[in-house]
Amino acid sequence: MMKEFGRSPRPLRRGLDAEKRERVEILDQTQLPWRVLWLRLETLTDAAYAIHSMQVRGAPLIGAAAAYGMALGLAQDASDDALNAATARLAATRPTAVNLAWALGRMRARLQPLPPDERPAAAWREADAIAEEDARQNASIGAHGQKILHGLAADHPRRPLQLMTHCNAGWLAAIEHGTALAPIYALHAAKIPLHVWVSETRPRNQGLLTAWELQQAGIPHTLIADNAAGLLILQNRVDAVLIGADRIAANGDVANKIGSCLKALAAARQHVPFYVAAPSTTFDFTLENGADIPIEVRDDKELRLFSGVEANGRIARLRQISEGEAVYNPAFDITPASLITAIITENGPCSANRAALALHHPEKWALQTGRDA
Ligand code: MRU
Repeated sequence: MMKEFGRSPRPLRRGLDAEKRERVEILDQTQLPWRVLWLRLETLTDAAYAIHSMQVRGAPLIGAAAAYGMALGLAQDASDDALNAATARLAATRPTAVNLAWALGRMRARLQPLPPDERPAAAWREADAIAEEDARQNASIGAHGQKILHGLAADHPRRPLQLMTHCNAGWLAAIEHGTALAPIYALHAAKIPLHVWVSETRPRNQGLLTAWELQQAGIPHTLIADNAAGLLILQNRVDAVLIGADRIAANGDVANKIGSCLKALAAARQHVPFYVAAPSTTFDFTLENGADIPIEVRDDKELRLFSGVEANGRIARLRQISEGEAVYNPAFDITPASLITAIITENGPCSANRAALALHHPEKWALQTGRDA
């Protein structure tokens, strides 16, 4: 299946350094799209800072980065106390993407029963396993999503398929391929003409990361202000919307980047299909519905200042709102399940409702709800 996709770039590199020490490097996403800068994570603190500051971001990548953060921490101290402290520290970095808690839970389940001297090596192995599984799951999402998009493209044989996405759910947000962008990459590889409307995604502008990714892949796209999305959808200039997810509740409600829900409302009004692409690690069946999902409220500075690049190449921040102005910066919203055409996971497309999700992911459902599908 991976062959259909070819190689995908990665935002996280692993290996051994010259002294044969385990090495983790990340592509610093706070520098993109202006500068490609790789950073080495040396400690648990580095990993926690990278997640909190969004040097790494996107639900699947946050999960993998947390797993590596735990491995870095245990390389220094593998005692029970250190394991508990590392878990608590990493869990506190970002609250909405459940992949973080999922990855930490998996690491703990694997490491806790081991004697401390066996934990460091096991932690690296488990973190690598989490990363490689994510790459495979996303490749599978791409294959399933491509089939859906192929069907939509067949309805418009004389023009490119018009897609819209929000935020960045590409390879930068995962280990490989991405989630919402994986089907788009696969369709492009199959030489089906397409064009992507990329919304800027204020205030952190993750849309610029998506535009950067698509430009590198040679995929036609156009950047729009977030507020242009409704106009384009109501003008019938969008055939489908694809987004990623940070957490999906048992009833199919989806938490994703702020602004997702407005696109879903416009799409539903116009009967435009609205797809959510996410690996099963993004499901949280312990939560009945989206109202229970914690929404991260981020620093005011993200609204007060904006980043750009000066003529000399220096990345600069410019104030646009005074300190005296009250601001509110929720980073995610909840798209109700009723607005979602399907959730595309590694197991294929699934309706966004309790019964369908239970049947689609029976093991996770049984584990998290204590009930059979
Ligand atoms: O705040 P971010 O940039 O981490 O938010 C990312 C998103 O909301 C993505 O759409 C989601 O994590 C899916 S990423 C494959």
